Amino acid sequence: MKIIHAKSYEDLSCEAANIISAQITQKSNSVFGFATGSTPIGTYEQLVQRYKKGELDFSGITAVNLDEYVGLSEDHEQSYRYFMNTRLYDHINIDKSHTFVPIGTAQDIDNECLRYEELINSLGGIDLQLLGIGHNGHIGFNEPNTCFSTTTHCVKLKDTTIKANSRFFASEAQVPTHAITMGIKTIMQAKKILLIASGAEKADIMQKTLYGPVMPSVPASILQMHPDLTVVAFDCI
Ligand code: GLP
Repeated sequence: MKIIHAKSYEDLSCEAANIISAQITQKSNSVFGFATGSTPIGTYEQLVQRYKKGELDFSGITAVNLDEYVGLSEDHEQSYRYFMNTRLYDHINIDKSHTFVPIGTAQDIDNECLRYEELINSLGGIDLQLLGIGHNGHIGFNEPNTCFSTTTHCVKLKDTTIKANSRFFASEAQVPTHAITMGIKTIMQAKKILLIASGAEKADIMQKTLYGPVMPSVPASILQMHPDLTVVAFDCI
């Protein structure tokens, strides 16, 4: 595990963007696993700035997202597809047909989970997976006590997660109760993982994640076992 102690949120965003940029430079047709939440917003802003300066070319990459709320359509402002389009894809030269997010409005959600997992496999797996972390240690939407061997599946969100994510919705009642998420196994199969975390309120969960016992009650603790994990953290370790 490599840990980078960022000096500020801006520094965290630069460091994370450096790692993503290096991956594109090394392999122009890389498959990225991208994440949502507030933490990666600065990283995506950095990538957009670098693209606009002519420093990065996204035309060869493919991107698969970690998760999506069940029931939200692609044009819903809180859907993760909408987030990725507006925060990143609309501003860079990525081929949109090479960007994938689970379809939260699929008729058959179980089938969508299987399709998504097969899609990732058909791409040859993920070269670099970007991850944020929930206050309860969730990665993607793999909530505490998710079995480490799960692949893409549908989850019922914990009340704490619904409460935490309600800041993005008009009210808590509007937060979807379920989500499709890559599983822990899907995430762990990525060749490289980049975990970003910012803010003192993540200090406790980051301590448990990086230095506590590896156990399903702290889903992110499995990352200790990954052979190529980089952590970029500001004010939480
Ligand atoms: C959501 C996402 C996670 C993300 C988490 C933390 O629940 N599904 O992928 O890591 O939020 O978000 P934030 O970065 O806003 O703390």
